[in-house]
Amino acid sequence: MTTSSSLRHLFLALAISATSIAIAGDDPAHERHELMEGVRDAAKPVGAMLKGEKEFDADTLQKSLATFAKGSEKLGDLVPEGSEGGEAAPAIWEDPDGFAAAIQEWSDAISAAVDANPQSLDAAKPVVGPVFGACKNCHDSYRIEED
Ligand code: HEC
Repeated sequence: MTTSSSLRHLFLALAISATSIAIAGDDPAHERHELMEGVRDAAKPVGAMLKGEKEFDADTLQKSLATFAKGSEKLGDLVPEGSEGGEAAPAIWEDPDGFAAAIQEWSDAISAAVDANPQSLDAAKPVVGPVFGACKNCHDSYRIEED
């Protein structure tokens, strides 16, 4: 191997590791907050439908469920050591298995609701209820609510 080609390899390796750092994010606590704000925005129309304040719309429900599903896939990666803070409770780092189980519970409820693909409010209530129940369960243990 010539010197110039090994330098090229070194450069490539550095470029690749810089890219993966950028993907992982420099500020997981901030990404967590943004992710949950996206989840909250997706939850709003669904909450309004469940309360009868907004007409039931199956497409809107599925869109929100898709946002939740993406969130449930990402959340576990946004709690690396050293990213404590925000509204994230210390319990996330003290009990990582419990936190992972809370994410799984949420994810299972989301999948069940996606599969059920409800076409009416009456059909939606029993499958969407557990999705919101999982939000609350997780927050009860793993989120410190700022008032
Ligand atoms: C598995 C755990 C878990 C589930 C499930 C979950 N959340 Fe959260 N949520 C968190 C954590 C942790 C935070 C704090 C994030 C932070 O500030 O670092 C949070 C924060 C929030 C916030 C405040 C935004 C912020 O960070 O300031 C809102 C709003 C929210 N969640 C809404 C929801 C809704 C709505 C659902 C369900 C549709 C949901 N969450 C499901 C763990 C969860």
